[in-house]
Amino acid sequence: MCSEEMTKKREGRRGVARAKAHCKDCEACDDADCTWCCPERLAALNPLLRLILLVIGMLCVILILVFANISNNSVSSGNLHDIAAVTPREGINVSRAQEILTALCDAYRDGLVSGDSCNRLCFTRKWTVTDYYEAHKTVIVLKDGGQMTVYKSEQPFYTDFPQIDNSKSYEQYSDMVSPMSAGEGMTQRDRTSLSTLIQQPEFILFRLLPLTRVTPKLIGTCGHMYEVESLVAFRMKGYYMNLKGKILVHLMGTLKLLYEFLNEPLQWCAVKFENLGLSADYPKR
Ligand SMILES: *[C@@H]1O[C@H](CO)[C@@H](O)[C@H](O)[C@H]1NC(C)=O
Repeated sequence: MCSEEMTKKREGRRGVARAKAHCKDCEACDDADCTWCCPERLAALNPLLRLILLVIGMLCVILILVFANISNNSVSSGNLHDIAAVTPREGINVSRAQEILTALCDAYRDGLVSGDSCNRLCFTRKWTVTDYYEAHKTVIVLKDGGQMTVYKSEQPFYTDFPQIDNSKSYEQYSDMVSPMSAGEGMTQRDRTSLSTLIQQPEFILFRLLPLTRVTPKLIGTCGHMYEVESLVAFRMKGYYMNLKGKILVHLMGTLKLLYEFLNEPLQWCAVKFENLGLSADYPKR
C-alpha cells in the first residue's frame, strides 16, 4: 500500500495526478515511479541511497580539507615569521646589493662609519639578499637567520652624500643635528654616519614619529643605512577581502593619528597597497 506521505512527496515532481494514479495499487504497479510510493521498494533502495550520500559527504569533506590547506598555505606565505621558503625576487641584481653592503662594511671595518647595526650586518658578510631595489631609494632585504632585515638609504654609498664640514665644533655640530643628537663625545665616524642619516627625510620621519606607530620601527643604523622592521606586504590575493577590510580600518586609524599628531598639512605620496604593510607586532586599536 502506498503511504499518503510518499504520495505527497511526489507532488510537484511529476504531478499529483500521475503519482496518485501509480500509487493506487502498489502490487500492480510495475513502473519505476512506484519506487517512491511503495515503502517496501523504498526500503530496498535505501542502501544505494545511503552509499550515494556517503560518497557525496566524503567529497564534501575532501573539498573542505583541500580549501583549508590552500588558505593555510597562502596565509603562511604572507606570514612574516615563516620565511623558510623565501627566495630572491626574480630579476634583482644580487651582486649590486652585495657590492653596496661590502662597501659599507669595508667603511665600517676601516673606522669610517659607525652604527649599532654594523656589527651584526658585517659580522660574517654572508648575506642572503632576498630583495633589492634601487631607484629614488636603495632598499636591501636580507634574510638574517630566522628574520628578515631591511636596510634603506637614499643613496647606495655613504660617499654619495655631501659630507658635513669636519671643522665644526661639537656645539656647532650638535646644534645642527639636535633632533638626532646622540650625546657628547662623538667620533668622526659617528659624525659621518649621522650626517648622512640626517640628510634623509625618511630616516628623520621614522626616527621622530615612532609614537604615531604608523612608520616602520627603526631597528638600527649602519653608516648611511638604516634598518627598519620588515613589514607584511598588503599586496595579496583577491580572496583576502576580509583581511583587506581590516587593513583599511587600520589605515583609517593611521590617518586619524597623523591628523592628531602633526600640526602640519599632511601630504601622503604614492598611496597604493604596494607601499603599505603591516608590522608583525602592530598594536591593536
Ligand atoms: C649588477 O650589478 C653589478 C655590480 O654593480 C654590475 O656590474 C652589473 O652590471 C649589474 N647587472 C645588471 C644586469 O644590471
